[in-house]
Amino acid sequence: MSAQELLTVTLEAADDLGGFRAAMRSLLQQGVEPGRVQWQLAEAAERDLFEGPPAWAGAPPAEGRIEAPVRLPAFFVPLFERAALHADPARHALLYGLAWRLGRERALRQDPLDADRLRAEQWAREVRREMHKMTAFVRFRPVNAAGAEGSAEVTHIAWFEPAHPIVRATAPFFARRFAQLRWAILTPERCVRWDGRALVFGPGARREEAPAADAAERLWLTYYENIFNPARLKVAMMTKEMPRRYWKNLPEAALIGPLVTSAHERSVRMVEQGGTEPVHRRPATSMALRIDHRAQAQTHAAPGTLAALREASERCRACPIGEHATQAVHGEGPIGARWMVVGEQPGDQEDLRGRPFVGPAGQLFDRALSDLGWPREALYVTNAVKHFKFELRGKRRIHKTPAQQEVLACRSWLDAEIALVQPQMLVALGATAARSLLGRPVAVMTERGRWLQRDDGLRVLVTLHPSALLRLEPADFEAAYAAWLQDLRQAAAPPG
Ligand code: URA
Repeated sequence: MSAQELLTVTLEAADDLGGFRAAMRSLLQQGVEPGRVQWQLAEAAERDLFEGPPAWAGAPPAEGRIEAPVRLPAFFVPLFERAALHADPARHALLYGLAWRLGRERALRQDPLDADRLRAEQWAREVRREMHKMTAFVRFRPVNAAGAEGSAEVTHIAWFEPAHPIVRATAPFFARRFAQLRWAILTPERCVRWDGRALVFGPGARREEAPAADAAERLWLTYYENIFNPARLKVAMMTKEMPRRYWKNLPEAALIGPLVTSAHERSVRMVEQGGTEPVHRRPATSMALRIDHRAQAQTHAAPGTLAALREASERCRACPIGEHATQAVHGEGPIGARWMVVGEQPGDQEDLRGRPFVGPAGQLFDRALSDLGWPREALYVTNAVKHFKFELRGKRRIHKTPAQQEVLACRSWLDAEIALVQPQMLVALGATAARSLLGRPVAVMTERGRWLQRDDGLRVLVTLHPSALLRLEPADFEAAYAAWLQDLRQAAAPPG
């Protein structure tokens, strides 16, 4: 190759990091000056990721002068991995030039103000930010796939328009987060599908290929409207976190305008309404109940019935929670129910109404039951802890997770319910319920969707608490909800 000859390197695609890295390494080793290299991308139309041309074409001929391998400083690798994914067409030339200079100009390693380094770092920052935004703003929509158990058929599809070619680099996040679903993300530049075992990449798609909004999305919008807190609205912060260019693909963005407009009026109404007040229905009985509250409780209902249990637990002061709650909230459902579903503790609404799972978490639970086709009346629904534990913030009662000792203090009420109802299976919603039922700490995210066994032989299916889903970012809700349903579905088909 003559010293003046121009060399064209053709990379497979905008996100062809492997090809770019290999080409750079080879060019550096052969001492090809940056000014002699032209970088280009293969025609998108001719691209086939699996059977297409080799990672890079136009490699320098082998007779070129081979130099000692160039040692690049440690900071260059992560910088390269992100800056090379910037959409700027000058990135390949600049990064190759930077690598060339880093191999020759030792002072450059100590010069963070070098213009090329600054530009590459700016690109890397923009790419990282876009990757983060993708994890936050991808919205999966369910599609009607056959959905057979274990099938690789895609059940959730999202459309996203990244500003940089980041799909390959960001896809592993979604594989980890939504491992149990079969999903696909379509973008104009690159599509990716998760079949439960591996990520499969393909060329870009058109927006029309992504599914339209459906009933589940409308339901999500209702949640969004309900969880939107007008008193905490900060428009500038919101648009900084959720830049407007993402809005056209965010279903909830349509609500932002009206919610912002009505925020002031809603805050005023919230303040006027005040908080919910606990209403003590019964005077607390003595702390002597601490030892065996079941034996010592004086009940009017027929002994050995759920009604007697309810009445007795009402007076329980084996831990301090009962002192402040309105009432004990016992389980609901028929004796002999096949499934007993156990939550953590009553929330604000449950405390006031004396019934389990009737507040926001209960509404999501009811939605799941309806999606699964399970009538709630057939289940026995209860909690590990029978009184509402809260902290007063102003006039509001804010849920507080019960301490381990408080859960233990309530265990005998739950055991008594199990003994009376005699369910065939237990479903633990969240870590508190799982720990109470199994008598050991349970890592819900690891053990979810699996059948575990108690010492008495009863099987327990562990999954997330619905409140955990309600706390998720909107972007994560749909897919997490679908994964939750998958967990719950196991309860209908327990191992033999
Ligand atoms: N959360 C629970 O765990 N139980 C309820 O009854 C309500 C919310």
